[in-house]
Amino acid sequence: MNRKSLLSPPVMFVFIMLIAISLVFMIVLITASTEVNPEMTPENYNQRGAQLVAMGDAVNGEALLAPKTCATCHHSGVGSVGPAFDGIADIAATLRPGFTAEGYLLQSILDPGAYIYEGYQNVMPALNSILSDQELADIMAYLMTLHAQ
Ligand code: HEC
Repeated sequence: MNRKSLLSPPVMFVFIMLIAISLVFMIVLITASTEVNPEMTPENYNQRGAQLVAMGDAVNGEALLAPKTCATCHHSGVGSVGPAFDGIADIAATLRPGFTAEGYLLQSILDPGAYIYEGYQNVMPALNSILSDQELADIMAYLMTLHAQ
């Protein structure tokens, strides 16, 4: 095979097609892998939130607030970085249209920047990486016991 036949139009065509196909394949792979957490709708949050609260243990949830750093930023004393949790079970359902209390709490923990509680800064980190599903469920179950007196 000489040099000329290697670069002949049919060979070049196949070569270019191969590159094009692998490029498309790579793009599909990359977009698929970034879609780990697809856009969640209020309904998704409400449904998942209700499931979690149902399987949560509120007593364990209360005990998790300090070790999971929540209590550092959320306390009822002066200078709390985040809003105190008092009465949150009642308030949570009223803050955002389309969200139940459970859905609101879940989004607040998984995606804190999605909605900024009035008067506070957007400084809460997304904490799902340090919470197992059961721990998340326990904390949510605890928050759902905090009714206004
Ligand atoms: C670095 C400080 C910080 C830590 C740690 C933190 N939060 Fe927050 N959190 C905030 C701030 C500030 C807000 C209010 C701004 C916003 O809405 O993101 C907030 C908002 C919230 C809300 C919505 C509050 C409301 O009254 O509507 C919930 C629920 C919540 N956090 C739960 C948690 C839980 C559960 C943890 C622990 C797993 C946690 N936070 C850890 C700072 C923090």
